[in-house]
Amino acid sequence: MSNPSRLAVCPGSFDPLTNGHVDIIQRGARLFDRIVVAILLNAEKRPLFSVEERVDIIRSVFKDAPNVEVDTFDGLLVEYVARRQANVIVRGLRALADFEYEMQMALMNRHLSAEVETVFMMPSEKYTYVSSRLIKEVAALGGSVSGLVPALVESRLATRRTAAKSYRT
Ligand SMILES: Nc1ncnc2c1ncn2[C@@H]1O[C@H](COP(=O)(O)OP(=O)(O)OP(=O)(O)O)[C@@H](O)[C@H]1O
Ligand SMILES: [Mg+2]
Repeated sequence: MSNPSRLAVCPGSFDPLTNGHVDIIQRGARLFDRIVVAILLNAEKRPLFSVEERVDIIRSVFKDAPNVEVDTFDGLLVEYVARRQANVIVRGLRALADFEYEMQMALMNRHLSAEVETVFMMPSEKYTYVSSRLIKEVAALGGSVSGLVPALVESRLATRRTAAKSYRT
């Protein structure tokens, strides 16, 4: 076969990285030779964490995982996947709510590029309710997100909250 090494791309905004993301990336890293965590640029107009900060966080969380790489991309995902000479997109499925959107995306991507396959994985059930948006909301209101995000993300969120508070007063 002409596919000696399987490279997968795990795209998302990762604003910020959660333990749900980490779970899916680790599963992908076990299934494929290499996995690229690809941060979509300009996904949100006002992200909480800059792209540089998100790259930094993901790199440091996966510093001991040699087959996990971090990159950024803009434009069509299938074009990025082709440019990287990858053939698999890895996505996580939390609940039924994710399904409809993910299925549309997967089929659209297949329409755009028949060679690329999308693989879905379920996270550990303890992360099925975790999303970046909810983590940001809870952290901004002073709630604990301990155990739901890597320790580094937890401390960065706390720093933001302190900074936002002193800015207000
Ligand atoms: N807790 C989780 N468990 C499994 N997969 C997840 C989890 N959170 C996100 N994912 C998956 O990670 C990929 C990237 O998602 P994304 O960066 O949009 O995260 P998100 O948590 O949905 O962020 P947001 O709340 O900003 O939409 C998607 O495939 C998404 O389904
Ligand atoms: Mg989302």
